[in-house]
Amino acid sequence: MARIALVTGGSRGIGAAISKALKAQGCTVVATYAGNDEAAAKFTEETGIKTYKWNVGDYDESKAGIEKVESEVGPIDIVVANAGITRDAPFHKMTPQQWNEVIDTNLTGVFNTVHPIWPGMRERKFGRVIVISSINGQKGQFAQVNYAATKAGDLGIVKSLAQEGARAGITANAICPGYIATEMVMAVPEKVRESIIGQIPAGRLGEPEEIARCVAFLASDDAGFINGSTISANGGQFFV
Ligand SMILES: NC(=O)c1ccc[n+]([C@@H]2O[C@H](COP(=O)([O-])OP(=O)(O)OC[C@H]3O[C@@H](n4cnc5c(N)ncnc54)[C@H](OP(=O)(O)O)[C@@H]3O)[C@@H](O)[C@H]2O)c1
Repeated sequence: MARIALVTGGSRGIGAAISKALKAQGCTVVATYAGNDEAAAKFTEETGIKTYKWNVGDYDESKAGIEKVESEVGPIDIVVANAGITRDAPFHKMTPQQWNEVIDTNLTGVFNTVHPIWPGMRERKFGRVIVISSINGQKGQFAQVNYAATKAGDLGIVKSLAQEGARAGITANAICPGYIATEMVMAVPEKVRESIIGQIPAGRLGEPEEIARCVAFLASDDAGFINGSTISANGGQFFV
């Protein structure tokens, strides 16, 4: 039976590449999104992958959405917590709203996504939890106190889940992408982008597919002994 995979924020950017890679690997994939109906409809039309809309920052919405997916598609074996946002500002200018929006989506969103799926994984004695963190959670970043805090928090989540899930056949791992050519990065002014590329030894941005291939491997049955780890995919920009 095909494994069932849920990818949050799976209709655009890195998430879309992840959804496609998991489908190519034989999984039945479901992608979620927050509000961009047009992009989601286009994605479904192009890939045949079903999309569902809810806000990962809201526990009740997430739980209800996951219950709907499980009743319509089946029990979720693989969850990729990918949905994320930035609300950048230097700390002295960062507003509580910018802080809270990023915490709610990027950190609490991981709890809200994995928590309702976890009991079923424990019962079925199989699960793959993959969280998309960031290089900036590893090294910090100017004007990203909020974002870096959430992405560092993601690493704490997977290291703890790895210990709780291991005996139940569940693995939890994180991927820390460096700068990847998605709308999130292409929205940065060109001058800033050029200076970012100057800091990447590979001399280029990463491609979403390069992150998707890491996810596909961690999601596979072959990766059963990899648990609590972090894959850094950043073109050599930062070593842990
Ligand atoms: N791009 C990079 O260079 C980079 C580097 C390191 C880490 N990352 C991480 O990789 C992940 C994907 O980034 P990306 O660049 O692919 O982002 P993106 O192109 O902006 O896509 C973000 C996706 O997340 C969804 N989303 C946002 N807020 C949500 C919410 N509250 N509830 C549900 N879904 C929500 C969006 O839905 P809509 O389509 O409805 O807006 C969209 O599908 C993020 O966690 C990001 O922090 C990215």
